[in-house]
Amino acid sequence: MYHNEFIADKLASVNRIVFFTGAGISAESGVPTFRGKEGIWQKFRPEELANFNTFLTNPNLVWEWYQYRRRIIRSVLPNAGHLAITELQKLKLATTVITQNVDNLHKRAGNNNVIELHGNIENNYCIECKKRYDNIEFINNNTVPLCECGGKIRPDVVWFGENLPPGVFQSAEKAVLECDVFFSIGTSSIVYPAASLPILASRNNKFLIEINPNETELSYLFNVVIREKSGEVLPKIVSMTKEKSGSNEK
Ligand code: OAD
Repeated sequence: MYHNEFIADKLASVNRIVFFTGAGISAESGVPTFRGKEGIWQKFRPEELANFNTFLTNPNLVWEWYQYRRRIIRSVLPNAGHLAITELQKLKLATTVITQNVDNLHKRAGNNNVIELHGNIENNYCIECKKRYDNIEFINNNTVPLCECGGKIRPDVVWFGENLPPGVFQSAEKAVLECDVFFSIGTSSIVYPAASLPILASRNNKFLIEINPNETELSYLFNVVIREKSGEVLPKIVSMTKEKSGSNEK
């Protein structure tokens, strides 16, 4: 396709690339997105479940929901879209991934420089003493586990009304300001502050590419819009970029 060729030429000629991703990049792995017909938020009310006050009043309900999502996430594999980013990073070392996803699939795919804006579902901490319980198998606990201090252990993800982890958004902004090409992949671009990153990229005259089968709130900002699934189009773009980078070196 013409646009793939054009993007591959562009990528071959630059060094700093940002992939800003949302739930759509994991859709082809079998992780449900949040919005849309099959979205998680059609079945569960986000304000209720992803909420610190509910965790205090009904911790087992919230914990059980995260256990359910962990089981889904652990039963799936990174898809061709995640793996294409790993391939591109071998060629373009200064590539950063900024993700809204908590599913850990970018890291499982071998992506480097991953900035997790909303935390990571495999990480946990005690709400009282803040002791970390990262990558601990709580898989059989359907009731909220307790820390040795007696405090409840919660998933290290950003809930409604909570701030992003300190410093994380600043790192994301820095990567955006330093990049040459900015991809937005599989996000409806409606949750802020994350959605302000494509706006920042646009205001700073970056080259913006959107990959999403559907139009989004911010589609108008992009230089190129690709209405395809990321797991299908990213491998093609990366493979063309590799060919072109090889020929540039001769
Ligand atoms: P959404 O569920 O809002 O949007 C998913 C996007 O992925 C939609 O625009 C789809 O069109 C697109 N999509 C679906 N399949 C795709 C595919 N195969 N390839 C590419 N794109 C595809 O998810 P997010 O925008 O990520 O926040 O949601 C943002 C935040 O809202 C989440 O991080 C979460 C949620 O509340 C927190 O939990 C804090």
